Amino acid sequence: MSELLVAVDGLSVTLKNPGGGRLVLRDVSLTLERGEALGLVGESGAGKSMTARAVAALLPANAVATGSIRFQGEDLLTARGEKLRRARTAMSVVFQDPRAHINPVRRVGDFLTEQLRLVRKVDRDEATRRAQRMLTEVGILDTARCLRAYPSALSGGMLQRVMIASALLAEPKLILADEPTTALDVTTQSEVMAILDELRRDAGVALLFITHDLDLAAAVCDRTAVMYAGQIVETQESARLHAEPAHPYTAALAAARPDLDAPTPRLAAIAGRPVSAWEAADTCAFAERCVHRQPRCTTAPVPLTGDRSRSVRCVRASEIDLTQKGIR
Ligand SMILES: Nc1ncnc2c1ncn2[C@@H]1O[C@H](COP(=O)(O)OP(=O)(O)O)[C@@H](O)[C@H]1O
Ligand SMILES: [Mg+2]
Repeated sequence: MSELLVAVDGLSVTLKNPGGGRLVLRDVSLTLERGEALGLVGESGAGKSMTARAVAALLPANAVATGSIRFQGEDLLTARGEKLRRARTAMSVVFQDPRAHINPVRRVGDFLTEQLRLVRKVDRDEATRRAQRMLTEVGILDTARCLRAYPSALSGGMLQRVMIASALLAEPKLILADEPTTALDVTTQSEVMAILDELRRDAGVALLFITHDLDLAAAVCDRTAVMYAGQIVETQESARLHAEPAHPYTAALAAARPDLDAPTPRLAAIAGRPVSAWEAADTCAFAERCVHRQPRCTTAPVPLTGDRSRSVRCVRASEIDLTQKGIR
C-alpha cells in the first residue's frame, strides 16, 4: 500500500486586513503519495500559489487557516518548533521567478552549498562536489564557472536550472514548483521542465506542480487538480483529463486551448470572467459561466465527491456528458 505524504483536508484560508478579511481558499482537499506528481491548474487568482504556500507552511502572517494539512502525518497548521522545522526541511520550493529568490550579491556556489553546510553539516569540499554533480545533472556544462558566477551572469533558464539543482540538493520528499517555467522562453521551458520531471522521478520525490497550462500539467503529472475561485472543482488522472473531464469548467478549459492540428484555430473562450473566492457564492462558483447550469446548482454548497483517482464538485456530474463537448 502506498503511503500518503500530503493530505490536505477541508482547508480554508482567509487573509485578514484592517478592513476585514478576504477568503482566498475554500474547502481545499488534496492528497499526494510518496513519489507522486500532482498538477494544480487554474486561471490566475484561482488560489494555486496560496495552496502551495499552505502546504509549504509558508502562509502569510495575516492568514487564518482552518481544516488540516498533514505532511508525513504531522498537521502543519498546529505544528510548532522542531516538528515544523523538520517538515520544512523535507520540502523544496521552486518559484516562477528565480531571480527574486536568490541573493544577487552571492556566488551560485555559496548559494548551493550553504544549506548542505549549515543544515546538514557537510564539509565545504564535499558540499562543492555535490553541488557540481547536481549542476551536471541539470544540464550545466561548465560547472566550475557556474559555481563562481553571480546570478546576474546567468540567463533565466540557467538560473532556473540552478534553482532545481538547489531544490534537489536538499534531498526533499516533496518539491513544490509554482509555475517554474512560465517566465522562460518556450524552448527553455520544455528543457527545464524535462529536467525537473526526470530528476524528481529518479529520486522518487513527490511534486506539486502549479501551472495555468492544462497540457503541461497532464504531461508531467500522474493526477491533476483543477482550481476555480479558491476551490478544487475536479481531481482526475491526467491521462483522462482531456478526454473525460468531469467538471464543466475543466471541459471549457480544455476546449479553450488552441488546437495546433486544426486547419482553423478553434478557441472557444469561456463566457464571463473568472471570479475570486471572496466574490463567489457559497454554491457552485462556476454556475454563472456554465452552459450546463440549472436552478439547483445555486441552491446549496456543492461538495467535492469521488475518490483519489477522480473527484468532482458538480451536482450534475453524473448526468452530463462532457466527453463529446469540443474535446479533441
Ligand atoms: N498577499 C496577499 N494579499 C491579499 N490577497 C492576496 C495575497 N496573495 C494572494 N491574494 C489573493 O488570493 C487569491 C489567490 O491568489 P493566488 O493563490 O496567488 O492565485 P494563483 O496562484 O492561482 O494565481 C487571489 O485572488 C489573490 O488576489
Ligand atoms: Mg500563482
